Amino acid sequence: MSFVEIADKSDFLNEKMKYFKLDNGKEILVINYEDSYYAVDARCTHMKADLSKGSLEGKIITCPRHGSKFDITTGTAIQGPKMGFLKLSTKDLGVYKIETEGDKLKIDI
Ligand code: FES
Repeated sequence: MSFVEIADKSDFLNEKMKYFKLDNGKEILVINYEDSYYAVDARCTHMKADLSKGSLEGKIITCPRHGSKFDITTGTAIQGPKMGFLKLSTKDLGVYKIETEGDKLKIDI
């Protein structure tokens, strides 16, 4: 495990989710859900849409492109994309551990 500092808790006072691009190129969403922090891949597993442009309701994020839904606490794809009459499936999102140290959030990359 290798934890690196990614944000401060105070960054989430007005926003529930924030997008980060790490030094290794990985794109991550960090989400504050019920005062716990979760980190998932920021790109949809279907066609790589930017999930930071999606909508977050509770612990479910919806892809802005074709509507796949993911549970941000587990990365599980709970609904695949809808394209016309087709209902497809998609893979789960990658999830990353978040550790807090005072006001600092650290992510395991
Ligand atoms: S790119 Fe996200 S559902 Fe298609």
